[in-house]
Amino acid sequence: MTPAKIRSIPFFDYPHLFLSEQQELTAIFREVGSRGAFILQEDLARFERNLAANLGVKHALGVANATDGLLLALRATGIGPGDEVIFCSHTMVATAAAIHFAGAIPVPVECGDDHLVNPEAVENAVTQRTRAILPTQLNGRTADMHALEGIADRHGLAIVEDAAQALGSRFHGRAAGSFGAAGVFSFFPAKTLGCLGDGGAIVTNSDEVYERVTQLRDHGRGADGEIVSWGLNSRLDNLQAAILDFRLASYSGAIERRRALAGIYRDRLQGIASLQLPPGPSDDPQHFDIFQNYEIEAERRDELRSYLKMHQIGTLLPWGGKAVHQWARLGFAKRLPYTERLFERVLLLPLNLSLTDQDVHHVCNTIADFHRLA
Ligand SMILES: Cc1ncc(COP(=O)(O)O)c(C=O)c1O
Repeated sequence: MTPAKIRSIPFFDYPHLFLSEQQELTAIFREVGSRGAFILQEDLARFERNLAANLGVKHALGVANATDGLLLALRATGIGPGDEVIFCSHTMVATAAAIHFAGAIPVPVECGDDHLVNPEAVENAVTQRTRAILPTQLNGRTADMHALEGIADRHGLAIVEDAAQALGSRFHGRAAGSFGAAGVFSFFPAKTLGCLGDGGAIVTNSDEVYERVTQLRDHGRGADGEIVSWGLNSRLDNLQAAILDFRLASYSGAIERRRALAGIYRDRLQGIASLQLPPGPSDDPQHFDIFQNYEIEAERRDELRSYLKMHQIGTLLPWGGKAVHQWARLGFAKRLPYTERLFERVLLLPLNLSLTDQDVHHVCNTIADFHRLA
């Protein structure tokens, strides 16, 4: 008798990003390459128009990656040396790095039980020097923007959204990225809309922010080629934009698929008392979540992770296992007890378009086995 084949489920399947659409992507490469259209060309402009229309915002601008995008968005919003910017510590270090490289002071605060920024903690962190709030729309879910807008209005603060993980996510019908002075997306390959390398975009309804970012991303050049300010080189490659525009056309289907997979996790795992799950895709009509990640909390998290690994199922600890303020060398003196406790429990399960329903059932069966054997 042949032994049953062990099903191996990596946390993320990078080759799938290319192989699943190999013909179409190769055709785009050939077509764009033959035109020699590599930098600031029509494909980029078309993608920017389509992205803006898709989100219901006035402007979109492709940039090299979301880290640069956050930096440029902060600079374009007038944030600079001496300003304090409040961010949630449960985020990628890139969020805080962008504040740091804008010359401002990153002020970390706690997340809430939905793992997104806790508005009360934001309000408590406001000082005379606070100039902006930078919420991360984590795991494809949009934070309570009504509460954050209230705080921003009361204290005269700007909002810049880190929507790197939230393209298409909505709160009360409005798109993540469209709430503040600017919103920033990442097209890193593993993102819900991924390119074949690095990429990002800034969206804004402000003509002024749009003008500033147009210059900042292209060496400070104005429309006539004159240098009007200091700038960087942070343009989204035209070829990547062509690939992203192709993928944007089927993006809503991709999101529905992610939401369906999240629904399976929800249905299958909700009976396990020692797990805390994210809200299901249809739990709250005010939130439309796109499930960039499926982030759970688990008692005995490390044992569960080892058990899944033994069964060839890949998982991930967010951000390498620490919230931003916990990286000692970055010099944060603050303690954030809620977030620190969360980071002893939090775990990302595989959720991506290479997975079949059966794959997700297999992950759930294996998690159930772990708890049965306990
Ligand atoms: C929340 C968050 N912010 C910022 C970034 C940085 O994006 P990029 O890799 O495009 O610079 C990421 C990417 O992983 C992210 O998840």
